[in-house]
Amino acid sequence: MRRKLVVGNWKMNGNLAQNQRLLEALVHGLKGVGHVDIAVCVPYPYLFQAQHILTGTNIAWGAQNVASHENGAYTGEVSAAMLKEFGASYVIVGHSERSDAYCESSANIADKFAIAKQHGITPIFCVGETLQERESGVMEYAIANQLDAILSVSGGALLDRAVIAYEPVWAIGTNKNATSEQARAAHSFIRERIAAMHPGAAESARIIYGGSVNPRNAAQLLSMSDIDGGLIGRCSLDANDFERICRAACKI
Ligand code: 13P
Repeated sequence: MRRKLVVGNWKMNGNLAQNQRLLEALVHGLKGVGHVDIAVCVPYPYLFQAQHILTGTNIAWGAQNVASHENGAYTGEVSAAMLKEFGASYVIVGHSERSDAYCESSANIADKFAIAKQHGITPIFCVGETLQERESGVMEYAIANQLDAILSVSGGALLDRAVIAYEPVWAIGTNKNATSEQARAAHSFIRERIAAMHPGAAESARIIYGGSVNPRNAAQLLSMSDIDGGLIGRCSLDANDFERICRAACKI
């Protein structure tokens, strides 16, 4: 049985004082909450703060991007080895907010996925269709394309215990979450696709849902078979909301 995973994606939010209040409230509120893995993915400059406050707690931390190279003349990039030095357990790769705005190619995202794994950091690989793709009936084709780029490059071993986030682009930041049935259908499509290429990895991979998850819809979404957790944007910035979502996941 796969353990549920709830990850906060803070995006480009926070400051030292706010983060401290948020992280301390989460440590306190989520103390002793078991049967669910919990993490927050913070902006790079706050990794040290997250490490300082979260070490020894049941909350892991990570980053929202990683360089696709080991080191060298890549101005502005941050390597997997650097993330590791600050105790990062997770890194988000291929979020649509990055792949769109910064023109990240599938090959580039696949390299980030592989390099994170090589450094013992779990990549959270995001896939998802746009509204136009859904409405024109090519949703599965779009998701399959994104997945195949990783599956063909990374090989089965790298996918073992991977985390895939299904984030329909139209549900991100819109208050229009996918219905639990829409999400379940997409998740089982993703799992079947992985199984077709790497049967061993399909069972261990966790497929989590992201897109307007809140404390009111979390229990229903997270109770669906094949939905192994959530990737939470706005509601991860509020300790009470995030705590309620984590608690919803651990009741299931
Ligand atoms: P929201 O939860 O704010 O819709 O963001 C989802 C997301 O993009 C998580 O990565």
